[in-house]
Amino acid sequence: MRVLIIGSGNMGRGIATRALSGGHQVTLYDINPKTSADLAVSLSTRGMPGASVAQTTKLEESARASDVVILASWYGANLRIAREFSAMFEDKLVVDISNPLNATYDALVTAPGSSAAETIQAVLPKSARLVKAFNTTFAGTLLAGQVDGRPLNVFVAGDDASARESIKTFVQSIGLNAVDVGALERSRQLEALGFLGISLQDSLGTGFMSAWHLTMPVAA
Ligand SMILES: NC(=O)c1ccc[n+]([C@@H]2O[C@H](COP(=O)([O-])OP(=O)(O)OC[C@H]3O[C@@H](n4cnc5c(N)ncnc54)[C@H](OP(=O)(O)O)[C@@H]3O)[C@@H](O)[C@H]2O)c1
Repeated sequence: MRVLIIGSGNMGRGIATRALSGGHQVTLYDINPKTSADLAVSLSTRGMPGASVAQTTKLEESARASDVVILASWYGANLRIAREFSAMFEDKLVVDISNPLNATYDALVTAPGSSAAETIQAVLPKSARLVKAFNTTFAGTLLAGQVDGRPLNVFVAGDDASARESIKTFVQSIGLNAVDVGALERSRQLEALGFLGISLQDSLGTGFMSAWHLTMPVAA
């Protein structure tokens, strides 16, 4: 899959690392070109045969050439990008990974009965297919690909079933478990879960290396 990641910080690095391990072609964009260039260099020796990583400064051109665009910056920036470059998202598969935290990290900025993902979807063209994913997986755990020997669960929400399927297939291809949670509205719960995970890190002392795991019954 040709994956464009917008934002080359902690999560950009984590998702790119996993994507390369699954043999995908990754393009990195950041508001600061040096950040994405440095990340591309540091990841350039990673990955399965067929994998590649490159930096771009041509956002719209790279979006057009990609199969999926991952919004890997903070909620406010993701929303601004969705608004400012709305046309480039026509017919695109788009992933929002944000947890819309306030400046003091002790509340969500989204109103009850809404979510970052739904707010972003509202400014995207109707033909864009938005999926929420990766907001409950900490960056460090993505680098490791597992916690305590168990692959991470990636919860996937979105209104378009084929878009959810595509992202679930991508998640499985990078060695993680995809959990389909249904409509994009479920992002409200996923963002609350992401926030809860963050707020537990101090008391658990887990240094952002814990993960949410949905335990399933053994098939009969
Ligand atoms: N960190 C985690 O463990 C984790 C886990 C789950 C979800 N998330 C979510 O993932 C998102 C990214 O988190 P992060 O920890 O990776 O943040 P980060 O390390 O700060 O990375 C974000 C990157 O995006 C860049 N950026 C800012 N505005 C941009 C724009 N308009 N266009 C392109 N790039 C832009 C930032 O540049 P500047 O630094 O110059 O602003 C920075 O390099 C957030 O929404 C967060 O809620 C994070």
